[in-house]
Amino acid sequence: MTVESVKDGASAAAALREPPVAGGGVPVLGHGLRMARDPLAFMSQLRDHGDVVRLKLGPKTVYAVTTPALTGAVALSPDYIIAGPLWESLEELLGKEGVATANGALHRRQRRTIQPAFRPDALPAYGSIMAAESHALVERWRSGEVLDITTESFRVAVRIAARCLMRGSYMDARADRICAALATLFSGMYQRMVVPLGPLYKVPLPANREFNRALADLHVLVDEIIADRRASGQKPNDLLTALLEAKDENGDPIGEQEIHDQVIAILTPGSETVGSTIMSLLLVLTEHPEVADKIRDEVEHVAGDRPVAFDDVRRLTYTANVVVETMRLYPAVWILTRRAVTDTELGGYRIPRGADLIYSPYAVQRDRRSYGRNEEFDPDRWLPERAKEVPKYAMSPFSVGNRKCPSDHFSMAELTLITAAVATAYRFAHAPDSDPRPRIGITLRPRRLMLRALPR
Ligand code: HEM
Repeated sequence: MTVESVKDGASAAAALREPPVAGGGVPVLGHGLRMARDPLAFMSQLRDHGDVVRLKLGPKTVYAVTTPALTGAVALSPDYIIAGPLWESLEELLGKEGVATANGALHRRQRRTIQPAFRPDALPAYGSIMAAESHALVERWRSGEVLDITTESFRVAVRIAARCLMRGSYMDARADRICAALATLFSGMYQRMVVPLGPLYKVPLPANREFNRALADLHVLVDEIIADRRASGQKPNDLLTALLEAKDENGDPIGEQEIHDQVIAILTPGSETVGSTIMSLLLVLTEHPEVADKIRDEVEHVAGDRPVAFDDVRRLTYTANVVVETMRLYPAVWILTRRAVTDTELGGYRIPRGADLIYSPYAVQRDRRSYGRNEEFDPDRWLPERAKEVPKYAMSPFSVGNRKCPSDHFSMAELTLITAAVATAYRFAHAPDSDPRPRIGITLRPRRLMLRALPR
């Protein structure tokens, strides 16, 4: 590099503009209050202020990215890493050595270890478990019964992730404990992210004690799962075996802490996101009975009288489009954060090294500039000829780039099967204490869904 080119680079950086500050901030708290009060509405209106806008969250400046093209650019650029408030709050749960929070060479090595378990050609081996769990879910229900959909959705999500990726009958007994621990942890994590009052969470208040108990229980559970597998002497072809056999860059076995963190870092996002999406799917089936009827017709057409099976999934195109449209309007991962590791440029704006960025798949996927009748639930917008009209990166519920969810195909298969099984077996109506308003935590989901299962 010549002195001239360094000078050119420096003057180019100096010529870049500062992103505008979003309107509506107030002294001291900046935009924090509005963000805390109604984050979905707040994130959704930011594009009106610019493609990249600066937010003041208390004393901190955060850069919000609002257009599909630029959120894609951030996700694909090596100038940003996983960091920032969301991930810092998750580290306590996910550990520092798991794939979801690691960066750089460690992250690349870990992705190589876990990726084979999620490849499309690995999925058929999970098919019978996914189908059995989908049918077991509806077989637990009775006509006329009021169902607590939060419990039901998270239970099936944990069971499928655990049974497929960490095979073993021991999972049946432990899945419920994992569910209970995760439910407590995820609500506590979100609180720690939006109200970051570190020392307060160490005070032995009942809520903190409950959180710590759940965290300890999850760690014990993971240790038990690993110990049981080792004691069994078995090495089934699954993710747990891949983790136990993984080697570091020197060819040495990876450490115990890393194995432990990896199991947690895969089980937790896998359960929370799928559980939240199943809840949203059940809300859609309740509020759009005509959609549920079309799914039932499709399943009958494809599977006839027999129970729907994994091999049917690729022919359940309408059902899959319902899943996609549900993820568009109710993306479980509604907010993402990154940190700039270098002075860089985004959309003609200067992004300084160390800057925290946020962007919202929820806002991007509901933007009227990308979608006609943007708030309307319309699965047919994913028919191939219409899907072509959707701008690039305007629909990325699994993200893109090197942090893209490894489980996109796995998740689509299980969600399609569950939706098919559920819509074929029952219709649903809200029970009086059902509250479908969004609950905004680390993931987005309906607040409290209590549904009455009605005969088909
Ligand atoms: C990462 C969404 C299901 C494991 C991600 C990311 C998104 C996402 C958006 C990227 C985060 C970022 O860019 O910062 C979803 C959705 C799911 C789902 C919407 C289902 C509806 C699952 C499942 C598993 C899983 C079932 C595992 C069993 C992971 C892991 C990462 C990840 C390990 C971290 C990848 C990395 O950083 O390299 N997911 N996910 N996800 N997801 Fe998923």
